[in-house]
Amino acid sequence: MVSGGSGFLGSHLCERLLADGHDVLCVDNFFTGSKANVAHLLKDPHFELMRHDITFPIYVEVDEIYNLACPASPVHYQFDPVQTTKTSVHGAINMLGLAKRLKAKILQASTSEVYGDPEVHPQPESYLGRVNPVGPRSCYDEGKRCAETLFFDYWRQHRLRIKVVRIFNTYGPRMHPNDGRVVSNFIMQALRGEDITIYGDGTQTRSFCYVDDLIEAMVGVMATPDEFTGPINIGNPQEFTIRELAEHILRLTESRSKLAFKPLPADDPKQRRPDIGLAKDVLGWSPTIELGEGLERTIRYFRGKL
Ligand SMILES: NC(=O)c1ccc[n+]([C@@H]2O[C@H](COP(=O)([O-])OP(=O)(O)OC[C@H]3O[C@@H](n4cnc5c(N)ncnc54)[C@H](O)[C@@H]3O)[C@@H](O)[C@H]2O)c1
Repeated sequence: MVSGGSGFLGSHLCERLLADGHDVLCVDNFFTGSKANVAHLLKDPHFELMRHDITFPIYVEVDEIYNLACPASPVHYQFDPVQTTKTSVHGAINMLGLAKRLKAKILQASTSEVYGDPEVHPQPESYLGRVNPVGPRSCYDEGKRCAETLFFDYWRQHRLRIKVVRIFNTYGPRMHPNDGRVVSNFIMQALRGEDITIYGDGTQTRSFCYVDDLIEAMVGVMATPDEFTGPINIGNPQEFTIRELAEHILRLTESRSKLAFKPLPADDPKQRRPDIGLAKDVLGWSPTIELGEGLERTIRYFRGKL
């Protein structure tokens, strides 16, 4: 079962699990995901799509659960912040309850946002984070932190088989064109010939992982021995400044857009980069797709959308 399976990452994960020979139940309330993302899978007899909001209990029979359901970009998770926390927290309780009843293995799609605005670079899993509990991003950051707590309490209390994956910035085809995330924003602006909006002076850095690399690692984490719980960072440690990213996209799209600078939003981290030492050790994994190649594939997708 993949909750949030018709979203950006979820749809790629469903595809991958089907290709690996699994039966896949995709559960989604279509808040940010869409049927279009999985329409090509509907004719596969091993694929099932169910409209359901995970803040309510669900009774199905499955043996592995990937819990991805949650709006993931600030514009989406701040649209209804109470529902965001409910999805993370009540959603986790419902998914964990299901896993407990079925003795199923369960993986949580956590996030680098659990580190908040970090004082440590790159961030290892042992870093406890610097998160504002009362800011506009808190519904997401604290919701995800509480979900991790629940996973580890179910593991300690009920010996549930859990896996917690902390995902860093991931991009690729089927990202939302208007979700305000930097990669989709810049590509859409470049393709439309609009100004490229940079918040701050563009010297803040980010690392970007291509979706196929992330899915490879996620499936790898699910297959680790039961003793392995994580949390485990998955992302691409190569850092780029936001300005470099904008310039890269301008080159690849051959756009004439100009750079426009705006003030930084609240709680925006200045730098974020995963320490992927654990993923290398445990999974023998590291990202293989260069930013240029990943951006080209993503730009092709957005061109098609336009
Ligand atoms: N993409 C990234 O860079 C990134 C980084 C860190 C963490 N994550 C995590 O990965 C997961 C997937 O992210 P994504 O980028 O694919 O985002 P997305 O918005 O495309 O996918 C989330 C999916 O969850 C669904 N959903 C939301 N609330 C739901 C609910 N209450 N019940 C059922 N379905 C619900 C949405 O409709 C959507 O299909 C999220 O949990 C997100 O926090 C993503």
